[in-house]
Amino acid sequence: MTKMTTEQDRVLIFDTTLRDGEQSPGATMTHNEKLEIAGLLDEMGVDIIEAGFPIASEGDFQAVSEIAKLAKTSVICGLARANPADIDRAWEAIKHAKRPRIHTFIGTSPLHRDMHGLDQDAMAERIHDAVTRARNLCDDVQWSSMDATRTEHDYLKRTVDIAIRAGATTINIPDTVGYTAPRESADLIRMLIAEVEGAEDVIFATHCHNDLGMATANSLAAVEAGARQVECTINGLGERAGNTALEEVVMALKVRNDIMPYRTRIDTTKIMNISRRVATVSGFPVQFNKAIVGKNAFAHESGIHQDGMLKNSETFEIMRPEDIGLTETNLVMGKHSGRAALRAKLRNLGYELADNQLNDVFVRFKALADRKKEVYDDDLLALMRDTSMDGGVDRLQVKFLRVICGTEAPQSADLILSVDGKDHQVTATGDGPVDATFNAVKVLFPHEARLQLYQVHAVTEGTDAQATVSVRMEDGGLISTGQAADTDTVVASAKAYVNALNRLLVRRERVAPDTDVKSVSYKSVS
Ligand code: KIV
Ligand code: ZN
Repeated sequence: MTKMTTEQDRVLIFDTTLRDGEQSPGATMTHNEKLEIAGLLDEMGVDIIEAGFPIASEGDFQAVSEIAKLAKTSVICGLARANPADIDRAWEAIKHAKRPRIHTFIGTSPLHRDMHGLDQDAMAERIHDAVTRARNLCDDVQWSSMDATRTEHDYLKRTVDIAIRAGATTINIPDTVGYTAPRESADLIRMLIAEVEGAEDVIFATHCHNDLGMATANSLAAVEAGARQVECTINGLGERAGNTALEEVVMALKVRNDIMPYRTRIDTTKIMNISRRVATVSGFPVQFNKAIVGKNAFAHESGIHQDGMLKNSETFEIMRPEDIGLTETNLVMGKHSGRAALRAKLRNLGYELADNQLNDVFVRFKALADRKKEVYDDDLLALMRDTSMDGGVDRLQVKFLRVICGTEAPQSADLILSVDGKDHQVTATGDGPVDATFNAVKVLFPHEARLQLYQVHAVTEGTDAQATVSVRMEDGGLISTGQAADTDTVVASAKAYVNALNRLLVRRERVAPDTDVKSVSYKSVS
């Protein structure tokens, strides 16, 4: 029996970065990246990892089943709509986990009932059948009444009652469209716990989206009303405005334990590392002023703040950087720094490298140090964003780029691009160096993908600073984001563009694993 119970003051952390987070358009992760993130979640003390939606694709199924086999402590959960095929597939994927969980759901609000063409009674029957089927396969079953916050209270109580009677061990009350507000979120949980029979035998979960910027507040309000599982993602990754951010809930409960006396099992010193890894592998950068994990969250730049900080760090700091694993030492590296110093520095930043990976990073570090006198932590993190940690080889690689630009149009780009291991060269023109470069890529690798976003940020200060470029591309409804850094903005742009194309190819393979990728929407050059 794996039914989860919890003491009154313990809040279970359910992480859905790999499911709800990855569902976010463009947040593609490769198979190995998913395994890596699952390993980090398990290590940091996440109670339940929602590893994916096994029926969605063969790729999702494979990722969930491998995560299930590898997980050490966390419960591994697979998502399933309320139908037999989904539930059976989810069970197939998670059944080898030490602690498996099936999570089944249906939208219960009037809008969702209409969409399914089910009246209240027909949907009630569907819920009963789904939870019963899941419970016959697995002792640990989570039921979600999707769009609960827009479901009539009487009908919501009825769905929860049916799920409990059919054997659900966790009842999730999602705010699917980020519509609720803290007081309402608390009242809803309190009402369900008070009025549904058997509520005291199950765990109530809160699952909030951030459309109105209230996801964390709504989740904490639900906890105060009796919810004992918070569903969240690293960096708040998720569709639209995202999900509740794990780091915000966990740190709020830690820092304000005086007024919210609840415990989690999370090792908070692992937060910064996993935040960086999720930002890198998902291609979704963390906004500078994001609570807890933003670049500026612990930076005190104004004169008044710096003065106060020097006298007493508690003047402006409510938590210590080291509490989330942010190391104080911004030890500057330079071209005389050796391999051992680089390894130690990267370990400090959360990267444990195999010898061959270190060799590769060391060569690129030296090249960077030749161009840039001082290499800061942020420079190294940018360098690591361009490092494949999963051993996979990208199909497209920028081998050489030279642009000619100036006041006279058109600008031109001379590019060598490796496509599936074979080098191709072209010179293309465009409206500016970046446009010329992207045109050159398109000549060598014709594709239909549309550029949706192009953004440049300086990694550190100074004219020799590296630029990080983010690119978002869309093709036939599939979206991918790419990032790259270089002291040369145009080189960073080329690499980011190619990175987004590589991710689009991976995504396309996952959606249609048996089709020839090129024949779907890409033509290669010979
Ligand atoms: O937001 C939502 O309602 C969901 C459900 C599948 C739980 O993600
Ligand atoms: Zn959700």
